[in-house]
Amino acid sequence: MAASAPKTTRSLRTRTASRMPFVALDESVATPLYEQIYVGIREHIIGGRLTPGSKLASSRQMAIELGVSRFTIVAAFDALLSEGYVVASPRGGTYVSKALPDLSLRSRATIPPRGGRPAPRPSPNVETRLSLRGRAISGVTITGPRYSENEARPFHPRRPPLDIFPTAEWARLVRRQWQGHRHQMLDYGEPSGYRGLRQAIADHAASTRGVVASVDQVIITSGAQQAFNLIFQLLLNTGDDVWIEEPGYLDARAAMTAWGARIHPVPVDAEGLNVGVGIATASDARLAYVSPSHQYPTGATMSASRRLALLQWAHDSNAWIVEDDYDSYFRYRGRPLPALQRLESDWLSARSDAPAAARVLYVGTFSKTMFPSLRLGYCVVPPELAPVFANARAIADRNSPIVDQAALEIFIDEGHYDRHLRRIRAACLERYEAMMHAARRHLAGVVSLAPMNAGTHVMGTLSPGYPAAPRLEGLAREEGIVLFPLSRYCIRRPARDAIILGYGGLTPRAIDTGVRRLASILETHRDSGRSRRS
Ligand SMILES: Cc1ncc(COP(=O)(O)O)c(C=O)c1O
Repeated sequence: MAASAPKTTRSLRTRTASRMPFVALDESVATPLYEQIYVGIREHIIGGRLTPGSKLASSRQMAIELGVSRFTIVAAFDALLSEGYVVASPRGGTYVSKALPDLSLRSRATIPPRGGRPAPRPSPNVETRLSLRGRAISGVTITGPRYSENEARPFHPRRPPLDIFPTAEWARLVRRQWQGHRHQMLDYGEPSGYRGLRQAIADHAASTRGVVASVDQVIITSGAQQAFNLIFQLLLNTGDDVWIEEPGYLDARAAMTAWGARIHPVPVDAEGLNVGVGIATASDARLAYVSPSHQYPTGATMSASRRLALLQWAHDSNAWIVEDDYDSYFRYRGRPLPALQRLESDWLSARSDAPAAARVLYVGTFSKTMFPSLRLGYCVVPPELAPVFANARAIADRNSPIVDQAALEIFIDEGHYDRHLRRIRAACLERYEAMMHAARRHLAGVVSLAPMNAGTHVMGTLSPGYPAAPRLEGLAREEGIVLFPLSRYCIRRPARDAIILGYGGLTPRAIDTGVRRLASILETHRDSGRSRRS
């Protein structure tokens, strides 16, 4: 059927309307006519308008009235016959199968008005058609950039410095994998991940973050997000209490919600998650999510005493700790504390009582240190959980693309990764300084940025008289600037809202231009905040 065919709609209305109420044909669509007739008749049957045992118009009569060939009608009847909606009588004629339940009583409301087209159906409410889990998931929002926002707009908070990624080097390594091990690259892989990469990660995380892990404890995932999903899927029951940092990472919270957790926001201060408040709020929570080396989004480093208190609580109450170490390599001042996972290992060895199983699951990602579309991350799990995680990964989506895993192994082993990490750190420091400098020049007295010693974003507080952060977000977006209010990351209203400004993905020049634009937006809307808030 030519795509350009004029749209014609024909309908069939037999003398005995009960046998063939209505079939509409549309020649402008790609669906074959016989299929449209088949679907039309089937709708009448399952809608209860053609009741079991009723006789259909003959194929000849239908062909004439619909203006199609008899062959088309016969093809439609054949499809209905083969699925058991209709039966052919040995004495001739086609009947709606008596084996079908009589649906006519239940579908009165959908019977079309006499002599006319059927009334348009109300669009079904999607929510009512979903499972409880489906509803929970559909109600959750995540922060990740929609791909319509994939340009490097100032000041998207989660952008790493993608402009300095050594693309040519990476492409060369990927090509090498295709050339050297073509068959292996084409086939299914181990659900827990490509062994060479798991070994490279175990070694690298041990030397840089102190993580204690055998290769078998490393499970490769499609980014940190899949690691969170596997963890919550496997370790939480619906209705389990969990702690999440407040403010905290929305996408981890989204995954918890999707898996049916009851979320308790636990406040974060300069020492990270306040364990005492967590215990007072939900002492028998089953899991706590933390980002101890550089809390997202406040940037706090969790103090040693809080880390120990968290471990003590988790071991006393058999709770799990999820350690999100998403950007510890972005520290440009001072050394990061070793991973919490390492502290737990040392703490367990130092204790004189009976050996206890580990409670920390360490999550790492290559989204920040390589590039987000790579979709590679990993989870270091206690040894006894490793086969369970590998199995769940196989059930979810089998394995990550092998060629990327193999290329990443070489990227790490041959030293490209460490070189790139050094470049990233230098670039982020330069960009951070550009951000602070631009803010001093253009935003003095308007936004005050808190100093940070790591990461790819800063937090700023607005002076009185300027639009509140959520309103500013909308105003800035109209001018092509992306900023997130701190309140977006909170379940409860924060005592003081702030704005999150990402700089990692921007050159110093783009930072300066963006800050000037933001300053001009703020200047234009000065005092509009005062009247709105009062
Ligand atoms: C706090 C936090 N954790 C983890 C991630 C990594 O997510 P993924 O590996 O799924 O891309 C990000 C990315 O922005 C993040 O901000």
